[in-house]
Amino acid sequence: MRSRVFAAVPLMLAAALAACAQNGRPQRASSAVRYEMPANASHGRAVYDAQCAQCHGRDGTGGQIGPSLRNERLRRSPAEIRAAILDPEPPMPKLFPARMSAADAHDVTAFVETL
Ligand code: HEC
Repeated sequence: MRSRVFAAVPLMLAAALAACAQNGRPQRASSAVRYEMPANASHGRAVYDAQCAQCHGRDGTGGQIGPSLRNERLRRSPAEIRAAILDPEPPMPKLFPARMSAADAHDVTAFVETL
């Protein structure tokens, strides 16, 4: 399990860089994120594809490493989902702040709520 997680790291970095290049949107400073602001779920989908899909599955039904996130909104509040992303339980990696901004976490939370 551990070696598989490490093997995924360069892939995840490449995917994250590709997503940044496509996205073209300037990163909002994390201190400027206001969670009451509406989240951008379509940007959240791009974050998900780049950072989460390899473990949780492209359609959120789970993968070899991560559990299914389908109907996560019925099990957790948006704040709880966001907390699970910002401060995850091992073996889920901590992607924030090195590979994901607070705005990305806000947006990907909104996307997870659509699964
Ligand atoms: C390297 C694999 C990996 C990556 C990448 C990853 N996760 Fe996870 N995630 C996991 C694992 C494993 C768990 C279960 C942790 C535990 O045992 O509590 C988890 C748990 C979660 C949970 C809590 C689910 C629950 O009901 O316990 C959420 C929400 C979540 N991940 C969302 C995300 C999002 C969103 C991303 C992308 C920003 C992401 N994860 C990236 C592996 C990963």
